[in-house]
Amino acid sequence: MAIFLDTGNMKEIENYLDMGIIRGVTTNPTILLQSGVVGGKEAIKKRSIEIANLIEPFPLSVEVTTNEPKEMISQAIEFSQWANNINVKITVHGPNGELDNLKVVHLLEKEQNIRVNVTAMMSAQQCFLAAMAGATYVSLFAGRVNNMGYNACIEITKLRNVIDSLGLESKIIIGSTREVLNVIEWLDAGAHIITVVPKILEGMIVHPYSKETVQQFLNDANKAEVGIKV
Ligand code: E4P
Repeated sequence: MAIFLDTGNMKEIENYLDMGIIRGVTTNPTILLQSGVVGGKEAIKKRSIEIANLIEPFPLSVEVTTNEPKEMISQAIEFSQWANNINVKITVHGPNGELDNLKVVHLLEKEQNIRVNVTAMMSAQQCFLAAMAGATYVSLFAGRVNNMGYNACIEITKLRNVIDSLGLESKIIIGSTREVLNVIEWLDAGAHIITVVPKILEGMIVHPYSKETVQQFLNDANKAEVGIKV
């Protein structure tokens, strides 16, 4: 079980890396844009190399920026050469349900020896087929699943059972965190990895009653130092 950080922000990555909490980083075009990465492929390359070097040997996921099969393949080859610990995100299908993507995944994993993270998935059945295609990681967007009115935990448990019973090697990444409780509930449901946004990770650590308790200890330590009895 592991926690990845779902961000492209260097300071946030450094912060949680220094705590020893995270074991990888995931990005996508939206996350990179929100992290100030503008300027096309050169900007993506620069930030991806910075992150990959910072977190090495932990893995970094970088998503292709096209849905044209030949371009997806050539971007995947290029991105995976930026650093040894970069894996490439390919969406499960195109914006109109185009079916070429899993062929691309299979080819990259089996013929190009490139690690692939199949992404933008909303169901156990999509993840199962991506695992069958040979994906190293299968990413289910559980927060979006919950937002559609389904319980993502049920999908996660079904998926883990199928992956284990068939002896498939893919690791299940659950992303799209929305609430502090998501991390534990999704790990408990069967996820191998949760990719978490920094704000949620902070929310997991800081508790109002812990704050009050720590303040009590500090106050009493001060009193003890000056000799005030309670
Ligand atoms: C993870 O790999 C995804 O890119 C990410 O968690 C998606 O989150 P969102 O649903 O908040 O966009």
